[in-house]
Amino acid sequence: MKILVTGGAGFIGSHLVDRLVEEGHEITVLDNLFRGRLRNIDAHISSGHVEFLNQDIRNFDQVKKACSGCELVYHLAAQSNVMGAVEDMRYSFSTNVTGTFNVLLAAQEEGVRRLIFSSSREAYGEAEYLPVDEKHPLNSKNSYGASKAAGEKYCQVFQNSGDLEVVILRLANVYGPRDFNRVIPIFIENIKRGKDITIYGGKQLIDFISVPFVVDVMRLAAHNREALSGPVNVGSGQGTTLFELANRLMTLFGKNNQVVVEAARSAEVVKYTSDLKRFKAIFQTTPAGDPLEYLKEMV
Ligand SMILES: NC(=O)c1ccc[n+]([C@@H]2O[C@H](COP(=O)([O-])OP(=O)(O)OC[C@H]3O[C@@H](n4cnc5c(N)ncnc54)[C@H](O)[C@@H]3O)[C@@H](O)[C@H]2O)c1
Repeated sequence: MKILVTGGAGFIGSHLVDRLVEEGHEITVLDNLFRGRLRNIDAHISSGHVEFLNQDIRNFDQVKKACSGCELVYHLAAQSNVMGAVEDMRYSFSTNVTGTFNVLLAAQEEGVRRLIFSSSREAYGEAEYLPVDEKHPLNSKNSYGASKAAGEKYCQVFQNSGDLEVVILRLANVYGPRDFNRVIPIFIENIKRGKDITIYGGKQLIDFISVPFVVDVMRLAAHNREALSGPVNVGSGQGTTLFELANRLMTLFGKNNQVVVEAARSAEVVKYTSDLKRFKAIFQTTPAGDPLEYLKEMV
């Protein structure tokens, strides 16, 4: 299959690309390296398994060319960082909203069969109840969540047009190797350097899910018909506090750093766990019982 992965040089995208290469597909990665790193997919580019386009999803013509002849598009390119999106709303809007629109339109015009959109639990905002099911209102709390909610709305418009199949996956907090500047990699760096671990607020409840599981789901989403019926949560269904996370990591490294609590950051959603009823019914699979199980392998 010919497949386009936007954002394929990034954290989740590059793990997906590894899997697609293993499966023997013909892959194009379009990424402007805003946060992606070429070294994540270098080996596949050198071996000729991946064509890399250092391009921008805000440029419609480039996206349209990249979609040509593709059966499937995984759309992951985004300003993926909550605080980054808050600091530069123009970039997050132009990339996550206009860019997503470009990818949808280009895919439809080029006759792509299906597009898989990486949405986020941030679209829900602060939860009115836990666990959060897909019927929960989208009360996005920050510009990242709002941009993902807007992207979803356009996905639904294209899906309803009948010309392009669109799957919307609302990912919880994904973790694994190659990620950076998010809570798990930051904690790991600080633990290794013997620095304090800073927790903002301290009331957070986070639904962590490992990147190999998310890649499995993305592959299932390429063919599953039920997945076309509306957004689907992808998470562990369990909440972890940042204190639990810090303790698990310190135990893995055999360290005992000081944990410091600072003022909460107002843009951050405090508590989220995914309701997985719809997910399990659609994909017939279940995440690991311990959401942090994969930390050991990752570390
Ligand atoms: N990591 C998570 O926990 C998580 C959770 C929910 C949703 N998501 C979504 O999953 C997707 C992948 O996330 P990730 O964690 O791998 O993030 P990432 O930042 O590592 O990957 C995103 C990629 O998009 C590229 N990009 C950014 N702007 C672009 C533009 N204008 N044109 C082309 N490429 C551009 C970046 O360079 C990067 O390689 C994103 O859409 C993100 O919003 C991630």
